[in-house]
Parts: sequence; structure tokens; C-alpha cells
Amino acid sequence: MSSTTSVHGMWSSRLAFILAATGSAVGLGNIWRFPYTAGEYGGGAFVLVYLICVAGIGIPIMMAEIMLGRRGRQSPINTMKSLAREEGSSPFWQLLGWMGIVSGFLILSFYSVIAGWTLAYVFRAAGGLFTGAEAQMARAMFEALVSDPERLLAWHTIFMIMTGLVVARGVASGLERAVRWLMPALFLLLVVMVFYAAQAGDFTGGFSYMFSPDFARLGSRFGEAVLSAMGQAFFSLSLGMGAIMIYGSYLNSRASIGQNAIIIASMDTLVALLAGLAIFPIVLANGLEAGAGPGLIFQTLPIAFGQMPFGGLFGTVFFVLLVFAAWTSAISLLEPMTAWLVENRGFSRPRAAALGAIAVWLLGIACLLSLNLWSNVTVLGKGFLDLFDYVTANILLPLGGVCIAIFAGWIMRRVSSVDELALGERSFGYRTWLALVRFVAPACVILVFLNAIGLI
Ligand code: PHE
Repeated sequence: MSSTTSVHGMWSSRLAFILAATGSAVGLGNIWRFPYTAGEYGGGAFVLVYLICVAGIGIPIMMAEIMLGRRGRQSPINTMKSLAREEGSSPFWQLLGWMGIVSGFLILSFYSVIAGWTLAYVFRAAGGLFTGAEAQMARAMFEALVSDPERLLAWHTIFMIMTGLVVARGVASGLERAVRWLMPALFLLLVVMVFYAAQAGDFTGGFSYMFSPDFARLGSRFGEAVLSAMGQAFFSLSLGMGAIMIYGSYLNSRASIGQNAIIIASMDTLVALLAGLAIFPIVLANGLEAGAGPGLIFQTLPIAFGQMPFGGLFGTVFFVLLVFAAWTSAISLLEPMTAWLVENRGFSRPRAAALGAIAVWLLGIACLLSLNLWSNVTVLGKGFLDLFDYVTANILLPLGGVCIAIFAGWIMRRVSSVDELALGERSFGYRTWLALVRFVAPACVILVFLNAIGLI
């Protein structure tokens, strides 16, 4: 019989869970990664596939992940181990938890470096450095930052300390309060920026860039684009590595999982779309390159802030909010390994969090060096930062997500999932969910993988 509480603490309410999970989902993935990957694949077609993946694969897998977490009530590794035992299945399922730890480790190592860029930009905005910025100047400012390993190391270190400190104290305290004002504030500021983009940028152009899919333009990159859009959906929703699973383990047994998953995914998607609508009109109006890569927002937004009234103030507030958004996501990336160290190694929480943070920090150094001193060190044609980003978002997270779907749909007995989802076995909601996790999600992910490696 599964327990009704977790030793790591519990959310004080259903709202606290929604806030924390939204805090995990909304982050650099929405505001930094979504616009630049959409830009790399020409906009509309990518966005459409992304939206389909969020609705058809993301939401059902998020429900499955919350459900497994809440039933297991431990770190993802031990949750999978005890659920597999409970359902009479193989202990090998705990490998899923291990894969999640590896993914979280790799993601956080580069995530912290990018969050470091965001911290650096808070000070550039506050210092008035964006005033009168145009494309050339914005690019030079960005390049000066990424080519300086010492600065990158300093910001990366500060961000990892921030993350480690919160996880050391326990996620249930603090996170709830932070996200409660952060989300509305971030949302409001994004709306302001969309208005600014509508007035000062090429809004119609930006809008149609994002929402009129042109698959023909992708040509031979079709498979790659679909893989990236699917990967972006997993990354943005924090799925497939145990972050949502562990947050689910702190959720009380009465809350409706389906409703929660829909709310979290909708908010996450809304933020990503708003970010796109704030950025692409500026990109087009200033003749910038939509496919500029990871530097896209850092080379675009300073131009907008440099020209808008009170741009220094708006810019500062924006980057501060982005730091907070990245912080609440980073916390969820560090939490699963910390919980495991507490459960299996008997470490105190602060010690476990510190150990995880230090290990991630060390790997992050390889990521930040890949932007400058080690730019010629490549594996499969990519530097460490790009490699970790690619492997996690496009391969490990979808793979983890599919295993979660298969476990929830095929291994877990129906009585268990009916009981957890509380939808009624014959209800439309339950049957749709079951079909999605049993057939649709696994089939889609496998087809996209096979297609991307050229087998079909
Ligand atoms: N979803 C987060 C973002 O969009 C990143 C993340 C991925 C967090 C995976 C946890 C797990 O920024």
C-alpha cells in the first residue's frame, strides 16, 4: 500500500502544486529556447507540430507522471522501484528513474550557464547599456559575454548557489510564495512587450511567421524539425526526467490530476507563444536573423528595450523575472537527485543538495568553455552545451516520457490508474487518456525517432 505523504514534505494545497509545477515548466525553455528553435525551423510549421505534441503527447504524459509520483511518494528511482513491485513487474523499471537523474544532471549543467547570461543581462539593462541599441551593438554585447569564460563562470556559479540553497531548505517552503507573484508578473510584462512589438515591430509579419505553417519550406529538414518540436514540448513541460514526478509525490491524494495537467500545460504554452509574439516582430522589423540560434533573445530584446520608453526599467524587470523563472525550473531539476541522495545515502538535505549542485556546477564548466576556449572540441559536430541540449531534449526526455506512458498505460493495473485519476473507468476522459498513453504517445515518439535517423 502506498503512503499518503512524502518524507520530503508536502505541498500545502492543490494551488501550491500547480504553482510549483508551473514554476518548473515555465522557464528558459519558453522564453529562450522556444523562439530560437522555432526560428531555426522557419516558424509556423514548427509551432504547429509543437502545439500538437503538447496536447496529444504532453498532457497525457504529464498526467501519467504526476500519477506515478503521487502513488510512489519517493524520488523517481525509488518510486519506479516500488511501483514496479506493487504492480508485479520487473525491478528494471527503476532504470527509468536513473535515466531521469542523468537527464536532469545534463540539463541543469547548461541551463545554469544560460541562466547566467540572464543574470548578466539584468545588470546590463539596469546600467542603461541597452540605450539606443541596434542590431550590431546588441550582437557585440552578446558576443563579448559568451567569449569571456571568467564572467560566464562567475554567473554560472552564482546561479548554482541560488539553486542549491533553495533545494537545501526543501522545495515546499518558499517556492510557493515566489511563484505566486512571479507568474502573474511575468505574464503581464510579456503582454506589455507583445503590445510594444505590435506597435514598433512588424507584428503582422511576426504573427504569420509563427502561425502560418509552411511545411514545404522545411524540405529535407522535415524529420529534424518534427523531432525538435517534439523535444521542445517535453523540455518546456519538464516531462520525462522525473521533475514533475517528484512534484507529484508531494501532492495530496484528492487533487484532480487531469485538471492540473491541463492548467499547467496551458499556462506553459501561453507563455511560450507570448514570448514568440514579443520577439519575432522585432526580429523581422530590424532585419535580424530568426535562425540566429541560442543568442536570439539576447540579441533581439536589447534592441526593443533600447528603443522603448522606460526601456531600462522594463528591461531590468524583464530579466529579473526571467532569472526567477529559470530559478524555479532549476530547482525542479536538482530536486530528484537530492531526494534520492537523502533516501538512499542517508544524507541530510543540505548535504545532498550541495553534492548535487557541485557535481552539476563542474559539468557546467565544460558547457561554458564550449562557447569559447573549447569551441573546437566537438562530439558529433557539437560543442558540449549544444550536445547536452540536443541529447536531453530530443532523445532522453521523449524516451523517458514514453517509458512513463508505457508503465502507466500497460504495466499499471487499471484499478490503480482509475483510482488515481478518479475519472471513472468508462468516462470519456479516462478512455481518451488510456488510448493516448497506450498507443498514440509511444507510436508518435517511435515514429519520429525512426524518421529522424532516416529509417522511415
Ligand atoms: N521546463 C523548463 C523550462 O522550460 C526546463 C525543464 C526541463 C525543467 C526538464 C525541468 C525538467 O525552462
